Order: sequence, then structure tokens, then C-alpha cells
Amino acid sequence: MIYKKQYGQPFDTESVVGSFLPMMETIPYLTKEPDGFSYAMEPQDVLYGLGENVRGINKRGWVYESKCSDDGNHTEGKSSLYGAYNFMIVSGKDTFGFFIDYPGKVTFDCGYTDMDTLRITVPEENYDLYIIEGESLTDIVHQFRQLVGRSYIPPKWAFGNAQSRWSYMNEDEVREVVANYRANHMPLDAVVLDIDYMERYKDFTVDAQRFPDFADFAAEMKAQGIHLVPIIDAGVKVEEGYDVYEEGVKNGYFCTNQDGTPFVAGVWPGRVHFPDMLNPEARAWFGSQYKVLLDQGIEGFWNDMNEPAIFYAEERLKKVFAKIGEYDKQNLDISSFGAFTSMVAELSNNENDYKLFYHNTKQGRMRHDKVHNLFGYNMTRAAGEAFERLEPDKRILMYSRSACIGMHRYGGIWTGDNHSWWSHILLALHMMPSLNMCGFLYEGPDIGGFGSNTTEDLVLRWYGMGIFSPLLRNHSAKDTRRQEPYRFKNKAAFAGILQLRYLLLPYIYSEYMKAALHDSMYCMPLAFAFPEDDFARRVEDEVMIGESLLIAPVYEQNARGRYVYLPEEMLQVRVKCSESNRMETSVLPAGHHYIPVELDEVVFYVRKGCLVPLAKDGKKIQSVADVDFADLRLLAYAPDGASYEYYTDDGETRDYDKPEHFVHITLDADGNAKSDRATVKVEG
Ligand code: GLC
Repeated sequence: MIYKKQYGQPFDTESVVGSFLPMMETIPYLTKEPDGFSYAMEPQDVLYGLGENVRGINKRGWVYESKCSDDGNHTEGKSSLYGAYNFMIVSGKDTFGFFIDYPGKVTFDCGYTDMDTLRITVPEENYDLYIIEGESLTDIVHQFRQLVGRSYIPPKWAFGNAQSRWSYMNEDEVREVVANYRANHMPLDAVVLDIDYMERYKDFTVDAQRFPDFADFAAEMKAQGIHLVPIIDAGVKVEEGYDVYEEGVKNGYFCTNQDGTPFVAGVWPGRVHFPDMLNPEARAWFGSQYKVLLDQGIEGFWNDMNEPAIFYAEERLKKVFAKIGEYDKQNLDISSFGAFTSMVAELSNNENDYKLFYHNTKQGRMRHDKVHNLFGYNMTRAAGEAFERLEPDKRILMYSRSACIGMHRYGGIWTGDNHSWWSHILLALHMMPSLNMCGFLYEGPDIGGFGSNTTEDLVLRWYGMGIFSPLLRNHSAKDTRRQEPYRFKNKAAFAGILQLRYLLLPYIYSEYMKAALHDSMYCMPLAFAFPEDDFARRVEDEVMIGESLLIAPVYEQNARGRYVYLPEEMLQVRVKCSESNRMETSVLPAGHHYIPVELDEVVFYVRKGCLVPLAKDGKKIQSVADVDFADLRLLAYAPDGASYEYYTDDGETRDYDKPEHFVHITLDADGNAKSDRATVKVEG
């Protein structure tokens, strides 16, 4: 049951699409405070949710802010990352979910100020509160997800491996990446293009020197099974003669200063204007710009810098320059030197600059900071709505950096600028179920780490986790050590681990699609799958992938194994990636185990009575197109037999719900496999 209570006159974020909701007179569980709510926690209470954030799956013990921020240092001391995910579940003495539908900053003090108090603060009394009661944690998530609408579904090829780097500078560099992948038998479906494919960082342009015939090049890549995935940035370059800029100015489609003139910020190309993503007409216009690239054969995009990130606001920059002149004449002592350096450091993403510009929304003119968290959401919505108009029968890949609940209907996310740090493997694992709760199923980290120099063992271990996340993308920053898998010594292990992803694709894709279509979770904390198990509630370094698999990746350098907690007896599957994915299985009892896992191994666990449909690896797979989703072998721990609902479709069109996409697979106690559709062959 979902209850709603409206406070004041909320801005309609369009995050919620579910209709019938009884209004509450008084709210259960939470205590109303003048500026929000509080909740008295018992020691055993666990807090879930808040999407992409720092720290654990259990959010207790820290303070988080929903305030979309461009921050490339995802350290424990931070309170905000790129998105706003105002959904939480309290699990303990009471179990309930709540969602604060408000487009500005919301603070979730999860026992930071007072260890035993959850305190939610909203700066103004104009928002909707939803309280969700359910039979279980999964039921609460299910109901919440019905409230906010079906999660985005990418094309099937987008579950393949993607290689990215800021930046592949020209066609030849991309060709070289693909050739190296192919030569090393490492499967690949996409090469991601960062800002340098554009002509001087202008959205929807292609640099004519570096990519002289983009459509031809896209076709050449596609013939090799590769999709190009270009980046689109939020800011539109201010430049006379650039059509996107000129059309935007002419039609009043950019965010404005108080006096109505377009607001100027500095990002990659220097001066930019921000398209007014909250103005429906401007949003439709911005979305239609993607057509230029769709027409050249592009089938996927990533939206970046859409918090929006601001290197500087022009007004502040002018003031800083004037002040620097003053400092120039002074003897800089401890305080003036500090003031001088922080003045420059504070140019970027300055909170005060978000108060300088305005949107023309359906609900009137709004100062940006009041609706800040809707910007990235609506940039991605602009694209998603345009794709529905322009390509009604085709799925287009889209993932964004900034997000807010509601955006999950239009695209996925990648988790931004992490680092080549071991702790960020674990952080990525924590983010996965937390994002799933909020509707973001298609997600993944920059594998190998974006910032800092990586190491071979880190990349291998990161793939050990990453092959289970829906978005599988290796990405790194300019000037860091190169980290394409073929650059390392242990090529057989990299080839094997990537092949393993493709062998698992029938299961991964089927579980993803069922989660999207049934408003459930692709990845869950152990506590959601084993609610009666008190110890499982505390496990932060293992998660469930779909209904059948438990993963417990290695995330420490020089570790040659790790402790794994199994809530019940399970089948251990040990895959030797460097030896063509030779698999060994054994049954492990419930409890704690030390599990050796060598660098070239992946170990995962199958629940009793569960099936995992795998692709056959008769021929070497190069891309998703080589995977036969209709000829499967079953990995199972099913002494008494088992059954599985297998989802399979063409992976391209949007006819998701057809009954023939759902196949019933059974395995009897003697290992005989059957499917209820002649089109899908299975082997026990
Ligand atoms: C941002 C993105 C990163 C990208 C870079 C250059 O930092 O988060 O992924 O490589 O911009 O476009």
C-alpha cells in the first residue's frame, strides 16, 4: 500500500506516474518536524536506498544530500554524487519505504548527528511524501517501482562489452582498439566516443579531420559488430554560425539570467548556454538534435556534465579576475593566500551560481537551484522522448551521468568519475542494489577506474565484478595509464573473463528484462533474498544477481581469495578464465567459508533449485550477435529438479511484453531439460 501526503504546493517533478493513491491524514512511522521528518532508530534497524552514493548498502551512520554534483572524488567524506535518489527503506522494528518527491536539495541524516535518529530535511514545505508499506523488502521496492514507472530497456547489444577512453582521437585509434580486441579473442560490442570526436566540443557535430565520413565509419564498425557510442554534453557552445546555438537563442530555448538574457557558463568549449530542459518545447527541440547522429547510423549515446557541471559562471569569473588584480598588490599571508586559492577553487560548481539562472517550466519561471535535481533527468528525457518519436520501433542505448528518480524511464547511468582504487570495486558493488531499488537497472562503473593509474590486477578483479553489471564498460581519463584489456600481460585471463560475460548473457539478459518488466530488482542485497537470515542483513560485499546467482567478488589487492557467507547450501562454480573458462562445481554448505580465488578465476554461487541458462561456447563469441539465445545449456544445482522463466526476444524492438518472449524451462531430477517452446533448445 502506498500513501501520499502533500505539503504546500509542490513542483510537479513528473517522477511519479502511478495513479490511484489514498491521501494520508496523519503519516505513519515518521514524525513530522518543522523542516522535514524524523524517525527513532533501534540498533538493529537497517537503512537502504539513496541510489548512487558513497559508503555502504546500509546507509546508516552518515549524512547524504540529494544535490546533483559534479564531483570526481568519490571518497567517504562526500555527501552527494551526481544524482538525486530520494527513496529509502527502513528495515527493522518497522519496515517501510518512503519517497520525498522534491526537485531541490534534500538532506538524509542517517544517524550522523544523533546515532539513533534518522532525520530528513527539506528546505521548503512544498513536496509530496509517499510512504510504502509491503509484505517484504522486495514487495516495497516492487510497489515503489510501479509508482515511478517501468525502467529503461536498452538494446541487447548494450549488454555486450564496451571500450571507452577519454579520448580516442580519430578513426584510426578506434580501428586499432577494435583490431586489438579481435586479435586477442576478446569480445566487444561498442567503442565509446568521448568529447574529442566533436568539432571543438560542439554537441551534435563531428570533427571533419578526425572522422571525415562519420556515417561511413559507423557502417564500417557495424560490419565488424561494433557500435559507436558518442557523448553529448549539457552545455551548447556559444558560437555565431553554429546552428544549435543560433536556433536555441532565436527561440528562447536556453536558461536565462534574471533579466531574460541567456545565462553563460564555462565548460569544455569555453562559453556555453544550457538548454532549458524543463521547458517542454526546448526539451523537444534538444531531443530532436540527436537525429543528426541517428541519421549517421548511431544507435547509442551517453549524456554527460548534466548536473549541470559548471567550470565557471561568467559573472563570477569576472569578479575573480578583478580580485586577483587586488591580491597581486598584496603580501599574501596565511589568510589572504587561503582566500585567494579558494576563490579560484570555488569557481567550479559553485552552489551560488545555481541561483543565477532560470527555467521556463510548465509551472512558471523557476530559479534553477529550486529544481536543480531535474536537469540531468530532463536532458535524458529529452533524448528518450525524441527516440520514441524518431525511432518508435527501435531501442536506442542511453546512459547519463546525472539522474533523478523519474529518469530511470528514459535511460540508465554510469556511475561517473571513480578512481583506479580497490575500494571503488566495492563501492560499485554497493551502488548496484541501491540503484536498482530506485529503478535504475541499467548501470555500471568505469571498469578499471576513471581517474588515477590502474594496475593489471585491479582491472582483472574489477571485471570479476563488472561482468555481472548490466553496463560493462572500461573507461579511463586522459593522461592516465592505458587500461584496455589487451594491453596487459595476462591476455588469456582477460579474454576468458570477457567471454564468460557473453556465456552468461542468456541469464543476465533474461534476468534484466524480467526485472524491468515486473518492476523488480536485477541485483539485490542478500537481506532481500534471505529476509529471515540475520547475518545476511549485515553482508556488504556480496549481492544476488537475478534469482539464481550470488556473487562475492575479490576487491582487495594481493588477496588470493576471500571469506564468503552463504545463507544456504549452494553450488560453487569456479571458472578458470585463462583456461578457456574451464568450470568446476562443488556443493558448499551454508555458513562462512574461505574461498581461494586466483587472479585468473571467477567464482560465483548458484542457489539450490535454481537454473542459470548459459550460451554454448562452441564457436568463439566476438559480439552479442554471435550469442545463440535459443540454444542453451543449463547450469543448475537442482537435485530435486528446477524450473526457470526464461525471457528472450530480438533485443532490438520495443515489443517487450509479448507472451512468446517468456519461455518455461524445466530440469528434472535426472538432469533432463525441457523448454515449452520449440524455438528454444536446452541441455541439462
Ligand atoms: C567527465 C565524464 C568522463 C569523461 C570526461 C570527458 O569527467 O564523467 O566520463 O571522460 O568528462 O568528457
